[in-house]
Amino acid sequence: MQVALDPRHTRVRSKLRILHNPRSPIEAEALHLNGELLELEKVTLDKVDLKRGAFHVSDTELVVHKVPDRPFTLELTTFVDPEANMALQGLYRSRGIYCTQCEAQGFRRITYFLDRPDVLARYTVRLEADIDEAPVLLSNGNLIERGVLDRGKRAYAVWKDPFPKPSYLFAMVGGDLAPIASTFKTMSGREVDLRIYVEHGKEARAHWAMDALKRAMRWDEQRFGREYDLDQFNIVAVNDFNMGAMENKGLNIFNDRLILASSETATDSVFEAIESVVAHEYFHNWTGNRITCRDWFQLCLKEGLTVYRDQEFSGDERSRTVQRIADVRQLKALQFPEDAGPLAHPVRPETYIEINNFYTSTVYEKSAELVRMIATILGREAFRAGMDLYFERHDGQAATVEDFVACFEQAGGRDLKQFMTWYKQAGTPHLVCAFRYDKVARAAVLQVDQVLPATPSDTKKKPLHIPMRIGLVGHNGHDLELRLDNGEVIRDGVLHITQRSQTYRFAGLPTRPVPSLLRGFSAPVNLSIDLPDRDLEFLLAADSDLFNRWQAANTYATRTLLQIVQALSAGKRSQRGSTYARALQANLLDRTLEPAYRAEMLKLPSQSDIARELAQNVDPALIHRAHRQLTRLLANTIGGTLESLYSEMDVGGGYSPDAASAGRRALRNAVLTVLSARGSAADIDRLAAHYSSATNMTDQAHALILLCQSPSAETERAVASFYEQWKSDHLVIDTWFAAQAQSPHNSTVARVLELTKHPLYAMTTPNKVRALIGTFALANPVQFNRPDGAGYELVADQVLALNAINPQVAARILGSFRSWRALEPGRRRLAKKALQKICRQPGLSRDVFEIVTKMLEG
Ligand code: BES
Ligand code: ZN
Repeated sequence: MQVALDPRHTRVRSKLRILHNPRSPIEAEALHLNGELLELEKVTLDKVDLKRGAFHVSDTELVVHKVPDRPFTLELTTFVDPEANMALQGLYRSRGIYCTQCEAQGFRRITYFLDRPDVLARYTVRLEADIDEAPVLLSNGNLIERGVLDRGKRAYAVWKDPFPKPSYLFAMVGGDLAPIASTFKTMSGREVDLRIYVEHGKEARAHWAMDALKRAMRWDEQRFGREYDLDQFNIVAVNDFNMGAMENKGLNIFNDRLILASSETATDSVFEAIESVVAHEYFHNWTGNRITCRDWFQLCLKEGLTVYRDQEFSGDERSRTVQRIADVRQLKALQFPEDAGPLAHPVRPETYIEINNFYTSTVYEKSAELVRMIATILGREAFRAGMDLYFERHDGQAATVEDFVACFEQAGGRDLKQFMTWYKQAGTPHLVCAFRYDKVARAAVLQVDQVLPATPSDTKKKPLHIPMRIGLVGHNGHDLELRLDNGEVIRDGVLHITQRSQTYRFAGLPTRPVPSLLRGFSAPVNLSIDLPDRDLEFLLAADSDLFNRWQAANTYATRTLLQIVQALSAGKRSQRGSTYARALQANLLDRTLEPAYRAEMLKLPSQSDIARELAQNVDPALIHRAHRQLTRLLANTIGGTLESLYSEMDVGGGYSPDAASAGRRALRNAVLTVLSARGSAADIDRLAAHYSSATNMTDQAHALILLCQSPSAETERAVASFYEQWKSDHLVIDTWFAAQAQSPHNSTVARVLELTKHPLYAMTTPNKVRALIGTFALANPVQFNRPDGAGYELVADQVLALNAINPQVAARILGSFRSWRALEPGRRRLAKKALQKICRQPGLSRDVFEIVTKMLEG
């Protein structure tokens, strides 16, 4: 390819060497190439210019009517307009930087091509541009030549990628960017040149990402035996980006919010996200790039596996338990509602209108859980052997889910046919468990029924193979041996649930143990078991499996919150929660538990967690009141403990993003959340002081968000001072937009609308849209679900405006309506009205059309 970059009129010359796939029969003489929004100048076949009648151009294709059945060369000259590209797919400009986004189908907006993932090709790319505008020119692979032209007025660079790849992994970048550089010595001793390119002046903020990259490269060698394969690895950070980041071969492109970090500007969660996304995109080099997907239905093959790998990496780098808790929270908050609503689809979908709509929590997070279940079923060693086989057998290929699973069947010597149903069947299984102890027989019976709820496209569900890790906890807190009455001992603690109903009889139990089920969340299911409160209190105090100890706390809190909601809706006052508070207290004071874990213990289930539990007739205002009430009760019951933790967890000294210091800040901030809800003068003072004395963004942002939660004179002061301090930092100011969008106060809708007109807001920058509109729709249940419908209207109008600018982002924001059918009748009617308004609009993009119609049908 030869690309002459120009803001309004970029010329792309592409020379394709094409041969028929010898394994597919020649059915027609015509060649269909995908292409959109291209201006075609010339087509040449084997050096002969084609006449107008020899080809046909439509909005989506270039058809060359007759091509030879021997190998031939097709040359195309086309033009594109990067400046006009606001959909951010294909070639576009972000703050003056030329960049590309090709996954899933953006390459066809750069040139005509067979834009599908099973067509692999070797690319050589020559880029040129005005030297002032784009002194830095990058593409995939290794740099083989560079220089200047036109007496130093223009720059050019030639990049060659030796690895065959599908077009979605193509990338190019041109701009005036500043690099930071480092090197990495691979396991076989090769030196790789690493660079991260950022806006001038932001270099110092890229070091954490570089550090994370090197740790990810080492980890992939040690854990999976995977070595990097080019001489160079480049990352570019841009401000306008639809997603988080993209794994283009040798040239990852990132949303700059996932690269740039300093203690003053980025929170601990941002540091953590950078580490995991840098790792994720790097890991794709093997799971996605070297082995790619045969078609887009196999998207989970690369995404689920790579999410599994990045989760494992984060677990190894930080605390495994805390990581697992965070991942499970996220799965339940995003994937479970998706699976329970009108957008439910299998991990491997069977149809789509717009593939961009299928980069979902189901394809990502649920599918990572499927990989984790395979690892649980096989055990660590056989799992690694299966991965090795997959890399060896399919390197250089475009593979399928069946190919992947077959490797584990072979390496593990296990039949995974029933397991395959997980990929094909939507919906979250429900495990209904009953536990009985028989003192005379010294035995316990565990009955497990799997209930498979219907989803929009299918109602008849097959039973799944569900690995359920369990423990039986004795009165002294020790795990008892799992011996079945037939003598079999379950050594790894994993029960294989394969039928609709199964019963296990455990023998040799002189006293009644407490069952600890689904340890480590060994399968993505809902679990119910009718344990008395005292069993939960026992597990909360004594379960040796720390994940399940947290789960017990979470279940206990959920139970309590549901009781409060019930009392409130009956017009009663409920004083529940003090036993829960005291059970929690012991853990909070336990110094053997790391602070990050104690912080997770203290965080109540979210308001949407409670809405999900209720599943119907949801009144978000009531849930909000219940949530506030329990938070206050915690502050009143164990306030002393919380206050001393607040002082004890003060990190002091300089900032370090490491997991241990971040954990102390997390616990201190979780404590601050609870204490601030009490709202006494001292509590307000503490919060104001937390804001004004903050020396890092973690504390500053947390205080700002809390101040916006309960408006006072301090709130407006902090909002104004934050703005003054950060108005020239385009990333930090997103926190300012988001904090205001989260306020449960009645003035928020008006405030958000006003902020859409703020000079620093831009509907063309997805980060801004996500910070303001996305936060409002997804993190402000009370105001989004206002009883007068004003929240729905606001979001619907924004979706319609965005539809014309950036359909991919519009469709994502629209997803915030996904649980509308679970609402109480009044709100449900208003939400439906807003959806119908969107649906009626002429000129809907495919992206928005698909989501809104499913939302109204399902
Ligand atoms: N391949 C995706 C990026 C992508 C997503 C391209 C959708 C086109 C459409 C990338 O590997 C990815 O998964 N990015 C995630 C972050 C990741 C850590 C889960 C993202 O961008 O949100
Ligand atoms: Zn990915």
